[in-house]
Amino acid sequence: MVEQPGLFKESELSSNDSKRRRQQDNERRRRKAEKRIQELRELIRLHDYYYYVEAQPRISDREYDALFEELKRLESEFPDLVTPDSPTQRVSGEPLKEFPHVHHRIPMLSLNNTYSRDELREFDRRVREGLEGEPYQYVAELKYDGVSVSLHYQDGVFVLGATRGDGVTGDDITQNLRTIRSLPLRVQTVQYHSVPLRTFEVRGEIYLLVEDFLRLNREREEAGERPFVSPRNLAAGTLKLLDPREVAKRPLRLVCYYLLTDEVELQFQSENLQLLKEMGFPTDPHWKVCETLQDVFAYIDYWETAREQLPFQIDGIVLKVDSLRQQQRLGTIARAPRWAIAYKYEAKKATTILRDITLQVGRTGKVTPVAELEPVFLAGSTISRATLHNADYIAKLDIRIGDTVIVERGGEVIPKITGVVLEKRPSTAKPFVFTACPCPHRQPLYRPPGEVDYYCDHPECPWQIRRRIEHFASRRAMDIEGLGERSVDQLVTAGFLRTIADIYDLHRHRDELVRLERWGEKSVENLLTAIESSKRRPYHRFLYALGIRFVGEEIAKILAAAFPSIDSLAQASQEELTSIQGIGERIADSVYRFFRDSHQREILERLRRAGLPLAAEHLTHPVQATGFFAGKTFVFTGELAAMPRERARAEIERRGGRVTDSVSRRTDYLIVGANPGSKLQKARQLGIPQLDEEKFLALLAENPVA
Ligand code: IVH
Repeated sequence: MVEQPGLFKESELSSNDSKRRRQQDNERRRRKAEKRIQELRELIRLHDYYYYVEAQPRISDREYDALFEELKRLESEFPDLVTPDSPTQRVSGEPLKEFPHVHHRIPMLSLNNTYSRDELREFDRRVREGLEGEPYQYVAELKYDGVSVSLHYQDGVFVLGATRGDGVTGDDITQNLRTIRSLPLRVQTVQYHSVPLRTFEVRGEIYLLVEDFLRLNREREEAGERPFVSPRNLAAGTLKLLDPREVAKRPLRLVCYYLLTDEVELQFQSENLQLLKEMGFPTDPHWKVCETLQDVFAYIDYWETAREQLPFQIDGIVLKVDSLRQQQRLGTIARAPRWAIAYKYEAKKATTILRDITLQVGRTGKVTPVAELEPVFLAGSTISRATLHNADYIAKLDIRIGDTVIVERGGEVIPKITGVVLEKRPSTAKPFVFTACPCPHRQPLYRPPGEVDYYCDHPECPWQIRRRIEHFASRRAMDIEGLGERSVDQLVTAGFLRTIADIYDLHRHRDELVRLERWGEKSVENLLTAIESSKRRPYHRFLYALGIRFVGEEIAKILAAAFPSIDSLAQASQEELTSIQGIGERIADSVYRFFRDSHQREILERLRRAGLPLAAEHLTHPVQATGFFAGKTFVFTGELAAMPRERARAEIERRGGRVTDSVSRRTDYLIVGANPGSKLQKARQLGIPQLDEEKFLALLAENPVA
């Protein structure tokens, strides 16, 4: 320390001193944070790779979340340390008005397709001739049925992603692609003959797992939206969304099959696939080097059936000349390379007899007609049932029981009936009519005006009961193991389950359950334990589990955030509900009516008594018992400028307060926003004190959540 007596007063000296010390402290903290941020990003990237690319997580979700939270916290403390390649920045940027165009420096070619082996022989002959006697080999790859994209990396960082477009110009969909968790935002540097690969282009396919596709479609249908026709269609539709936050909600996947760079001279496609993998890109492991056409045919034959076991869809295989030098020699004609070809599998068709049309009743009472078919083998499995969608579909194709029908399974995953062989129609075949529910009540079906579906509205329809309980217990809802279709069926039939609330009374019937067929001490014990632990599921999953019409998983999350307890949701008016982003009239109406149904309210009461929290975690983990808000009851009137009312409600509830709808003697404060309504009058009459928005915000700030 420099001592300069006389220049500074004592106090100044020490204050400068402490300022410097503070600065040094800050510097040190910053450097520490910077180091830790780097570490965390590396770790998260690595675990993203294990999880999303290798599908083999090495840490628990909780541990992963902790890393992510720590990174987020440090980055918000030191915002200038945030970089675009940070794992926290996957979903970023504002919704676009339209996508900018991108010129593909190297055109994105398409492939010539064929369905015939003779044409493959023809292709091979042209390759042989083109190479004038040079030996060559092929790489055979699966042809993923998705949407092709081009990804550009500069200095190892993902900088641009584009659609194929017309092959020359595509759309810049970088923001959307960044949300795909298996897409590395920064790559591992890999050496190719001692040259590091840092700036390059990768091409690949965006696709969806069939399982994810089916789930998303189910959710869409629940939410009353039109389902997508195929995983490919869903992937394409998602990439066209202008809001990356919406894209992030869809489980898109990436597989890469193409590498281009000016940095080194790459030599083989097979080597490129290997390199891509080493760099951390998701690649398909099923490719194969084929030395002869016989090998190629064997590969085609194998995958023709084995593809049924893949969790995603392929529509064929792609055959490429392995040597890139030879590829160049063969060249390109009319936008398609002469060194590659796609062999496509036919959409499988078969004819069979429609034995019957049965009706399936969903948990909302919606009735879906199902074709019961003479079993027929098609594309790897035996089909004995197919959906007939609705009355209109049956009428349009004029499908009648006894008809010989055409069944198809193509890119659409689910087998469908695409036509009738009219020449084979028995003279007795009559058009199908929807009459009664298949339940014992034989409830006449009704079709609401303007809808394509029929409904059963019997409150005790056992089919609806079964579906509702199955849904409640399902994996993504309350996840009660041991309460699947078969056991629900059994327990409903035996009279143990009539509503979802009965699930939590099952423990009273332990002895009777043990004596049921297929059950025993151990399995009953397991079931009861599973039921007990289901009480701890997050609140949004409980909301989803209730099976309120149009409330799928996404909507349940939105509702849970806005109304963190069942009581607040049950009290919400239709206007309050529709004021939330993502909640339209139809959902609001359905939610509102659900909570006005006395039968549902009774069920909720029973669930509450059974010990289900019926509220978000921050409310059930004892809320604050001290502070201004604790224990007080508030009512809102008028509009708040600073936050939506649901947020304000949540803020109060987190601080231990309560919010009710109407002013009464028990109201402690009326919070008054702009354009207050009649509640203000009432509060004045009752002498209830008021808080304006400014005061309310100040109180929130003075009473932070502990
Ligand atoms: S290679 C010139 N490899 O199929 C090279 N394409 O019909 C062109 N595709 O646009 C692409 N899997 O969207 C290649 N393993 C694979 C592929 C594949 C799927 C798609 C891709 C391409 C289309 C051509």
